[in-house]
Amino acid sequence: MKLLIMGRPGAGKGTQAVNIKEYYHIPHISTGDMFRAAIKNGTKLGMTAKEYMDQGLLVPDEVTIGIVRERLLEKDCENGFLLDGFPRTIHQAEALTAFLQENHIRLDAVLDVDVPAEILVRRMVGRRVCKKCGATYHVEFNPPKTEGICDVCQTALIQRADDTEETAINRLSVYDKQTAPLLDYYSKQNLLKTVNGNQPLDQVFEDIKNVLGA
Ligand code: AP5
Ligand code: MG
Repeated sequence: MKLLIMGRPGAGKGTQAVNIKEYYHIPHISTGDMFRAAIKNGTKLGMTAKEYMDQGLLVPDEVTIGIVRERLLEKDCENGFLLDGFPRTIHQAEALTAFLQENHIRLDAVLDVDVPAEILVRRMVGRRVCKKCGATYHVEFNPPKTEGICDVCQTALIQRADDTEETAINRLSVYDKQTAPLLDYYSKQNLLKTVNGNQPLDQVFEDIKNVLGA
């Protein structure tokens, strides 16, 4: 399976990616996670990314396209991958199309997890993530068994720096301007599969398996 997962900020891409990765045995490649790891490690890439991410803006295309190309050439991507949060601009999508053609790779599907913008600020502001293993929770919709502690590895949960109300609103508006046009781009290629992301977590995953036909 060679897949992209798209959707507004907070739609549940990362949450569903965990299920998809396990079910189809493919690596989960999230550009947001790659940038957060770079910030944590204090690299030059991290310093550049932080400037944009803290404001809810997109990291420049030339930086982002380069790291994805490198990642897709790694051996674990040979039999499939799930790209989460990339592409996010028409320029990124065109660069990805060119890269896939050069390497004789065909995408199987582009998933769009569709959730109305009105409910997403609440999802982002209530999100908590494990600083060690990256597991994602929500204080209301998907709470851990013990408040503030990861179920998987018992580490303290933290809030993402860009999960403030102000930045969440900016991210939604950046999505509308720069990323929403990609739905049309992939629909024209007959790759787009839309699932309703405004349902319980398990049901969203059932729908994903159904649209992928496996
Ligand atoms: P990124 O990390 O990709 O963030 P995003 O697109 O804003 O998406 P999120 O990770 O916030 O949401 P999600 O859809 O993964 O939702 P989740 O599953 O966590 O990007 C961050 C930043 O990095 C960007 O702003 C940009 O600066 C930069 N960047 C990244 N990629 C880039 C690119 N290609 N180009 C340029 N810049 C780039 O769920 C959210 C919450 O909702 C959780 O708390 C979860 O528990 C809960 N939840 C999930 N599903 C449900 C459900 N069905 N019902 C109730 N609650 C649910
Ligand atoms: Mg995510």
